[in-house]
Amino acid sequence: MSIELRLVSKVPARAELVGLAVTSDAVDEEPHGLDWKLLRASGFDGSVGQAEIVAGPERAVAVLGLGPAAELGSSAFRQAGAALVRAGARFGSLGADVLDQAGEAVDRAAAAQAFAEGIDLGVYEFMAHKSNGATSKVRSVALVGSGKRISAALDRGQAIARGVNLTRDLVNEPGGSLTPVEFARRAGKVARQGRLAIEVLDLAAIKKARLGGVLGVNRGSTQQPRFVRMTYKPSGRAQGHLALVGKGITFDAGGLSIKTSAGMMTMKSDKAGASAVLGAMAAIAELGPRIRVSAFMPLTDNMLGGDATRPGDVLKMRNKKTVEVLNTDAEGRLILADALSLASEAKPDAIIDLATLTGACVVALGDRYAGLMGTDGTGWLEQVAAAGERTGERVWRLPLPAEYRPQLDSNVADIKNIGGSNGGGALTAGLFLKEFVVEGIPWAHVDIAGPAFSDTPFEEHPKGATGFGVRLLVDLIENFQKPVGE
Ligand code: BES
Ligand code: MN
Ligand code: ZN
Repeated sequence: MSIELRLVSKVPARAELVGLAVTSDAVDEEPHGLDWKLLRASGFDGSVGQAEIVAGPERAVAVLGLGPAAELGSSAFRQAGAALVRAGARFGSLGADVLDQAGEAVDRAAAAQAFAEGIDLGVYEFMAHKSNGATSKVRSVALVGSGKRISAALDRGQAIARGVNLTRDLVNEPGGSLTPVEFARRAGKVARQGRLAIEVLDLAAIKKARLGGVLGVNRGSTQQPRFVRMTYKPSGRAQGHLALVGKGITFDAGGLSIKTSAGMMTMKSDKAGASAVLGAMAAIAELGPRIRVSAFMPLTDNMLGGDATRPGDVLKMRNKKTVEVLNTDAEGRLILADALSLASEAKPDAIIDLATLTGACVVALGDRYAGLMGTDGTGWLEQVAAAGERTGERVWRLPLPAEYRPQLDSNVADIKNIGGSNGGGALTAGLFLKEFVVEGIPWAHVDIAGPAFSDTPFEEHPKGATGFGVRLLVDLIENFQKPVGE
């Protein structure tokens, strides 16, 4: 699943293609002694993510664009790694000499990590249902560089990319085959491989735990729900405890408030939150961070069987609050409510949830930015934003306005599951979730409805699942500081 990546002092003779990087500013200097007439003619200008093959002195060269020197960051190296393996897809053995380009602008280890991530993210193809094998022949990349720090960075990058690719596989797998039971089975595999503790609640256990939200959403389905809890414990004393929560709707048909056929087309991706949480758990099992991490994954599909939850039905949630379900397509918040209650009961130092929660968030921020909401005043949201900044997984702050909270008032229950008709759907969804987080626990909600899935390839991502959130979560965990109140 990972490319064999090793550090070398010189690109070995058997490498069939070598990647050399150049910033767009340096193109005018015609570096590396290449045929720049040809490169220019083919449109190469050093833009980030570009790769163009030309003849070199010893072997073919893939010239990799890093974009403007002034904007150079790890994201350029990640995209260069992906561009190299895509340009060299016909070759088994590649070389790369790119780390000197990091210069002062980027820490060399950060550049190496990002390049390694890009390599494994760039070769990814979802092959589970294709009759012919993978199109990429790339097996190994020899990277010019040396030192323990750089070699550790490559290992880190590959561990993280394995987590992202695991998430992509889960999200890309159709709802008919990646059922809640199958998701839980795969979580069990991750737990065994990573020596993580796991507990899978089946239907009876979910009933016993009174997870009314999960049960309400599952009522229209012939597939049983599952609720997966997983725990990572550091070998030494834990420096903190973080809870991860991920929305795991294995397919969202909308329930009786049925979606349109176009709206349903990509709804196998509605498990992207839980999938990112599982991918991050797989990665940290390899990386060994110093904090305790508990993961909560509520899993069900949202179908419209004969006994499906009807608009107007009232559910009693884990935390005893009652919810009037006026739109069965606002189901994510119902299963997350129970998960956030359980996460709160574990008394962590902070909670973060990831969810493909609202189309409104896509309207607001498009498909490259996730919406970030939650508890103000503890620095927790700033930690999440900083992790997004460092990893290139873009998040943007949105408010949770108290003045919108009355929109959730219900005539018959404690709260209803949709807001009014004046827009702001991402915010009212966030306000709904807030009702289920125990007061005093710093909480971040990341709406990934936009960036989790893409119909077009971009940057280091192919079509389909991006694996968004894994890199952010891993970085957040590794740099975790217990949030302190004001
Ligand atoms: N899973 C969807 C949100 C979604 C939409 C994710 C588009 C990815 C792309 C969610 O369950 C949903 O249907 N939300 C509704 C909420 C509404 C009924 C209040 C929505 O956004 O329309
Ligand atoms: Mn829905
Ligand atoms: Zn949904």
